[in-house]
Parts: sequence; C-alpha cells; structure tokens
Amino acid sequence: MMEERRIFLPSPKLSQQAHIKSMEEYRALYRESIDDPEGFWARVAEEVEWFHKWDRVMIDDFAHARHAWFVGGKLNAAYNCLDRHLTGARKAKAAIMWEGEPAGETKTYTYQQLYEEVCRFANVLKKHGVKRGDRVSIYLPMIPELPIAMLACARIGAIHSVVFGGFSAESLRDRIEDAGTTVLICCDGYYRGGRIMDSKATADAAMAQYPGMQRAFVVRRSGGKVDMQKGRDTWWHEEMAAKDIASECKPEEMDAEDPLFILYTSGSTGKPKGVLHTTAGYLLSVKKTFELIFDYHDGDIMWCAADFGWITGHSYGLYGPLCAGATSVIVEGSLSYPKPDRLWEIVEKHRVNIFYTTPTTVQACMREGDEWVDRHDLGSLRVLGSVGDPINPEAWMWYYTVVGKEQCPIIDTWWQTETGGAMITPLPGAIPLKPGSATVPFFGVELAILREDGTECEVNEGGYLVIRRPWPGMMRSSFGEPEQFKETYFVQFPGLYFTGDWARRDEDGYYWLMGRVDDVIKVFGYRVGAVEIEHALTSHEAVAEAAVVGFPHEAKGQGIYAFVVLKSGVEQSEELKKALADHCRTKIGPIAIPDHIQFVTVISRTIQGKTMRRILRKIAEGDIGDLGDTSTLADRSVVDSLFEGRR
Ligand code: PRX
Repeated sequence: MMEERRIFLPSPKLSQQAHIKSMEEYRALYRESIDDPEGFWARVAEEVEWFHKWDRVMIDDFAHARHAWFVGGKLNAAYNCLDRHLTGARKAKAAIMWEGEPAGETKTYTYQQLYEEVCRFANVLKKHGVKRGDRVSIYLPMIPELPIAMLACARIGAIHSVVFGGFSAESLRDRIEDAGTTVLICCDGYYRGGRIMDSKATADAAMAQYPGMQRAFVVRRSGGKVDMQKGRDTWWHEEMAAKDIASECKPEEMDAEDPLFILYTSGSTGKPKGVLHTTAGYLLSVKKTFELIFDYHDGDIMWCAADFGWITGHSYGLYGPLCAGATSVIVEGSLSYPKPDRLWEIVEKHRVNIFYTTPTTVQACMREGDEWVDRHDLGSLRVLGSVGDPINPEAWMWYYTVVGKEQCPIIDTWWQTETGGAMITPLPGAIPLKPGSATVPFFGVELAILREDGTECEVNEGGYLVIRRPWPGMMRSSFGEPEQFKETYFVQFPGLYFTGDWARRDEDGYYWLMGRVDDVIKVFGYRVGAVEIEHALTSHEAVAEAAVVGFPHEAKGQGIYAFVVLKSGVEQSEELKKALADHCRTKIGPIAIPDHIQFVTVISRTIQGKTMRRILRKIAEGDIGDLGDTSTLADRSVVDSLFEGRR
C-alpha cells in the first residue's frame, strides 16, 4: 500500500468562511464540550423548536449501560425537518431533488410540497389506525416515497424500520417479525442497473410468512403486474388521492426520549439487532454534525450517496440535511449505470456542493479511470466525504486530486449505526488532513484506545476503540432486547461503550481506524455478520458445519470466505458451491454471497472458538507465516491442510 505522509492544510478561503475556522478554535470548543457537555448540547438544542423545553440535558449512566438526553423535553422530528422551514423563502426551496434511474426522470419537492406529501401520508397512516409507538416497516428503493414515509411516521410518532431494498424475503420477514410491525410500505418493482427488481414479490413472500401483517401500502414505481391481496394491500397513490386525506396533519408531541426509528444491523450474533434511536438526541446530533463536518451553508446542495436502508442515508441523506434546511439529492439505482460516470453526471447536473460516499465507491471510480471524471464540470464541489471503511491513501489521493482538483477537503468520517452520527471526523475549515486518518473526535466525543486488560495504549499502539461517555446520538437500546444492548457494548470494558473497532492514535492525537475486531464483515461498506452467513450455510441440507471470515478484497473492501464441512455422503462439486452461494442470497441477500467457498473436512473439532476464527482469517488472507499464539490449537497440521486446500 502506498504511504502518504503529507499533511493537507485547509485552504485559507475555506477556513475564512467555515463555521470552525482553525485547529485552535476546534480545540477550544472541543474542550468546552467535554468540560461542560450540558452547556454545549443545550446550546445546540436551542437551534430547533420544542413544544416544551427539557428539564435536564443529560443523564450519564454508562455504568448501567444507560443514557438519556433532554429529559422532559417535547418535540417532533418531522416538524423540525419541515414545518420549521415554512416561514419565509425556505418554503419554496428544494428539500429533495430526486433522480430516477431511467434517464431524464427527475422530481423536485420544495419544503412546502414535501410538507404536504408527508402530512397526507401521515393522515393515511392514521386513517388505517397507525398510532404513536406502532412500528412501521418500510421496504422501498430510493424513491421520494421513502423519505415521505419515514417523515410521516415521525410526524405521528410511529417508529419506522427501514429495510434495505436489496434484502431477501427472509431477511425482511425477520425484521418485520422482530419489530412486531403490522404495516408495511413497499412498491411493485424498481430500477437497478437497467433491470427491474421485482420488489412486491419479495415483500409478498415475507408477508406470507408473517400472519401479523395487516396492511401493505404499495407504491407504483415500475408499473409491473403485482398481486394485490384483498383486504391487506392498497395502492399508495389511491390512498393519497382519497377525498378525506388532508394536507395538514398535526405533529405528535413526542418525548425527547421517545423512539424515532429502529434500524437493523449485523453484529457478532447470528441475529441482526434492532438499533433503537430516539427523537431529540438523534435529531440534534445529526443536525449539528451535518452542519459542522460538511461545513454546510444555506443554499448548499448535499448528496449523500448511501441508500436510506442504512444509517448513513438516515442521518446525512434525510434527517441531518432536512433539519438544517438543506437540499438533499436522492438517487435511485446504480451509480455506474448506464455508464461509469452516472455519478459525476449527477454531481454536475445538480451542482452538488457536498458529496458523501464510501471508499469502495471511490475505488470503483478510480478503477474506471480519470477520463470519466474529467468529462464533467465538478466545479460545484466543495467538500468530499467518505464513510463506512478505512479509506486507503491511494483512494484518498485520487478522490482529492482527480475529483476534488485539490480544492476540496476529504472528510473521512468514522461512526456506526449505533452512534447515529459522525464521531471521528475532520472539519473542513479547521483540521489539517492526513490521508487514511479519520483525524479527531467530534465535539462531546471522548474516546480511548485500550489493551485487552483495560489499560490505555501508548501513542501509535493499536488497541480497542471505546467511547468513554454518552453522546446524544448514540443508540439507547436493542429493540425488544434491552439486556442485549448491555451485553454487546458494555461488558468487554465495563462502563465504557465498546465499538468493536481496532484503532491507534498517533503523536498528533489523530485516529487511524484499522477494522473490526469482531465477526462483522464489511462488504462494500455494509455490515454483514459472519455468524449470520454461517447460519445461512448450515441451513442448507448438504452442510454439516460452516465457518465464515472476512478477507481483504480489492473491490468490496472485505470479501466473504466460507469454510464448509459437508454432511457425510455429500459430494463436493462446483455446482454445490454455486447452490450454496445462491442459498446465501435467498436467505440474506446478494450482499451475503461468499466470494470463496472451501470444502474442508474438519473445523471446530480441532480448533476452538476465538483461535479458530483468527487462524481462519489468516488462511483466508493467504498468509499463515505468523499465526501468533497457537498453543490452544489441537492439531497444527489441520491449519496446514486447510491452507493447502485453499490453493
Ligand atoms: O468498522 C467501522 C466501519 O464501519 C463500522 C460501522 O458500520 P455501520 O454501522 O454499517 O455504519 C457505517 C456508516 C456509519 C465501524 O464500526 N467504519 C465506518 N466508518 C469508517 C469505518 N472504518 C474506518 N473508517 C471510517 N471512516
């Protein structure tokens, strides 16, 4: 890997107009946010509208895996993302600019128009009996109805659970069932890479396995033929056009700590967990981070290229930008179809100022070649963001020079579904950049890097990244399983939030993220659990045992490597490998398809638990030169035979 030791200073022009203008200013405000978090966050809270102000800014009880913010306050997230902007000129400003995959299909919603659509759909939900606290699952592609549905839920106090449109019927069913939803919002089909994805059929298959589903609102997108189940399925457009549906809907007065949404994400256990975010803390932290990490100014056009099925889309595609009154670009379909420069075409067309994507997307564009970028006038760009994986220095430099023409800072933001908003991140006008480092903690974020025994690592010594104190945007609980929240995050280092990441801090206090230490694999920046894939594999009739690990993959960031023991009598074959890969697709979704399947005769009978995974990872990486401590290995020759089999 290339080494890049240069430091890139913020341009004076950018610093002058930035919210935070220098490292000194950052340091002073950071100190203040740590010394007086209540003062800091109360000031942020004054930036939104409350029906009733809070009694207490924070309850810091990490010792019991608990925290709460703006206790006693009452507000509504949708109100703050819409109604608050309806006075004055912002009313007619674009809130959402949508770009469909078929060329030329675009739609713009002003704040006033979006407000009306959201109110109408909120009224549709109410008409069908959806109440505050009910869970609503949303299985939609990147079409305007997705943010409309999310905000409509927020408006009436229903808890949305967006399920990424690429998930399989089973994954959708699991998430519907876990959340206990009675209402699903889905569509007939949608466009992706020139194909029409038959989304309703998948939703139907999920609902068929879940008798609790009372109602499905179906958006007409592709116009394809669908089965509408009588009594359960109705068309979105018909519901919205009904005479009794008004375009005003009183927002529900939500408690600051009332849930806003659930978002399922993979962890170390087999079952994805429902990360629960609450109203005030989440909203304020995404608003503030959005404004500061991208140095947002009124009139800026934001394009967060992540699907709303993931936290990045929730925070920086929807809630952050709209709470700040920005214009958010939303794009359906593949960014590289019909040509590799669709992405740059959109930046040029919509005069995007802030662009946010993943390192794997940057690398994919880099592989396509500079000429695709050079065809477009990207002069509108001011800030370029990265999220989801460590960005390697080559990709960083390419993004900086070829896309940003050395004018735009690369904002490499480290955070998680659990943290709600960015935690380690540069600020465009203030923080000198080191390619490959996510730089410094955001305001109010107190971190430590620890050894296994809980002592602090030295400068540049790699260790476990932990968060020392609550932050408003951090999840409150695992939905339906409060104990799991504690067990997952607060047991390894009692009283501290364990991120699951490995990191080091350098001599300047800059953080360098070095990947997950648990069984979470990041494929294209998206999380998938090794154990989930193992469960999918072992649910196949031919499989006796499976062990799955991640390995470095040029295009995907991490690839999936599966070691599979077949049941006795089952023949190994290439067809079977393909069948197993298909099985993973059906069980979880395309994201979970293994890149390599290796048939082996033994796994766990010889090598135990943690050691096994560590060693399997080495085998998958193709390097068993240094296996570390192998004293708990029952038989070293097994490792050699697994390695042989790899070739
Ligand atoms: O391992 C870290 C990696 O992504 C994980 C969180 O994944 P998820 O919950 O899907 O959220 C992704 C988008 C916020 C982290 O534990 N990660 C995220 N951002 C970075 C990163 N690793 C290195 N550098 C980053 N900038």
